[in-house]
Amino acid sequence: MRSMHEFTPETEELTRAVVAYARGRIAVDQPLDRPASAETLARRTGRTITADGLGGEEALRIWSEVLAPSTLSTDHPAFLAFVPGAPTKASVLFDLVISAAASYCGSWMEGAGGVWAENQVLAWLADVAGMPTGAGGCFVSGGTAGNLSALVAARHAATTARGGSRPARWRIAAADTVHSSVASAARVMDADLLSVPHDERGRLTGEALAKALDEQGAADVFAVAASAGSTNAGVIDDLEGVARVCADRGLWFHVDGAYGGAALLAPSVRERFRGIEHADSYIVDPHKWLFAPFDACALLYRDPATARAAHRQDASYLDTLNAQAEWNPSDYAHHLTRRARGVPMWFSLATYGIDAYRDAVERVLQVTRETAEEIQRRSELELILEPELSVVLFRRLGWEPEDYETWWRRALEAQIGFVQPSSWNGEKVARLCFVNPRTTIDHVRAILGTMA
Ligand SMILES: Cc1ncc(COP(=O)(O)O)c(C=O)c1O
Repeated sequence: MRSMHEFTPETEELTRAVVAYARGRIAVDQPLDRPASAETLARRTGRTITADGLGGEEALRIWSEVLAPSTLSTDHPAFLAFVPGAPTKASVLFDLVISAAASYCGSWMEGAGGVWAENQVLAWLADVAGMPTGAGGCFVSGGTAGNLSALVAARHAATTARGGSRPARWRIAAADTVHSSVASAARVMDADLLSVPHDERGRLTGEALAKALDEQGAADVFAVAASAGSTNAGVIDDLEGVARVCADRGLWFHVDGAYGGAALLAPSVRERFRGIEHADSYIVDPHKWLFAPFDACALLYRDPATARAAHRQDASYLDTLNAQAEWNPSDYAHHLTRRARGVPMWFSLATYGIDAYRDAVERVLQVTRETAEEIQRRSELELILEPELSVVLFRRLGWEPEDYETWWRRALEAQIGFVQPSSWNGEKVARLCFVNPRTTIDHVRAILGTMA
C-alpha cells in the first residue's frame, strides 16, 4: 500500500515534480490549447483509476501531456471569449499555499488568520464601491453563487419586514440583459423575474424600472438586480436611477459587478458607477478582472446582520461557533465548509499594492479602446457600441450566423485566439472581452485578421 499521508522520499520527489510543473506553468507562456472528445482523452490516457494507483510521476505525465493540453488556458492573452481570467503570479503562488495549509475558513474559530485577511480585501472592495463602514460578507465560488446568496438574503429581509407573510410567488426585477445567473437564482428560489425592458444600450434605467413596477405591480417584488457591467455588452445600468426607485419603494438594491466591478478602480470610468454606493448587496469576482485564480466572488452586504439572519446554520454541533461574536464567513452565504479562496487575492494585493491593480485595469480599458478604433478602421467590420468597459461587440458585414461559428473554430484551431460570438438585438455578432493586461493590440489584430 502506498503511504498517502506520510512525507516519504517518494513524496519529496513528487513535490519537486509538481512544484516544477507549476513553476513552468506560470513562468513560460502557455499555448491556448484546445478541447478534445472524451473518447480521445480516454484512448490517450488509458485507465487512470486503478486498484494499485499509477504513481504520481505517471499521473503527472498524463496531466501534462494529455489533459492539460485539452484544457484551455483562460489566462492566455488571446483568450477573449466569455470572461477570461488573468491571475497575478503572486495570487497563483498563494493558491498553492492555501491548498497546502488545509485551512478551513468557514468560521473565525478555525480560520481567524485567513478570515482576517479575506476581510481586509472585502473591506477594501466595499470602500472602493463607496459602501459604508460595517459593510461585509464573504467570498463564495463565483458570481452565480454570489447572486443567489444575496437574493436569498434580500428575500429573507422582505419576508421579515412583512412579519413573515409572503406572496404566492416572489419576484425579482431586472433588465433582460442581466446575467443568466439571476434567472437561475430565481428558479432555485422558486421565484419569478419581472423583466424590465432595457434602453438602446442594453441598460436598466430607473425610469423603465419605475414604469414596469407601476404597470406590472410591485407587491410581490422583493429586490432589483442591476448590472455594474453586463456580460454581453459591458454596459453599466443606471445605478443611480435604480437606487432611487429602490429607496422610494423599499426594495432591496442588488448590484451584480461580477465582471465589471473591477473597473471601479479606474479613474477613467469610475464616474459611470455612480449610485453603486447605495447597494444593499454587491458582488465582484476577483477571478475575472481582479486578477485572482478561480474560484472567487466577493459578496458584500450593506448590513451584514440581515444576511446572517438568512444564512446562519443552527445545530447543536455549531453552538459554540454561533455563540461567538467573531465573524463567521459561513453566516453570509449558502455554504458552510469553505476554503480560504479570498486569501490569494489578499496576498497579491498586499504584495503589489493598490496602484498596480488600478494601472492593470486601466491598461485593459486602453486596449479595449484601441480595439474599437481598429474595428472602425476596417471596412469589413462595424462597431455596434462604443465600449463602456472592456467588452467589444461588432459585426462582420456580409456574414451569416454560421460564419461566426466557423470563425471561432478556425481561430482556435490555428491557435490565434479563443473568441465566441454572441448576439445583439437578435442578430448574431462577434464579441471580445478583455481582462488580461498582457493582451495587446497585436493579439487583437491577429484575431481581426481571421475575419478579413
Ligand atoms: C455579470 C456577471 N454576473 C454573474 C456571472 C456569473 O459568475 P460565475 O461564472 O463566477 O458564476 C458572470 C459571469 O460571467 C457575470 O459576467
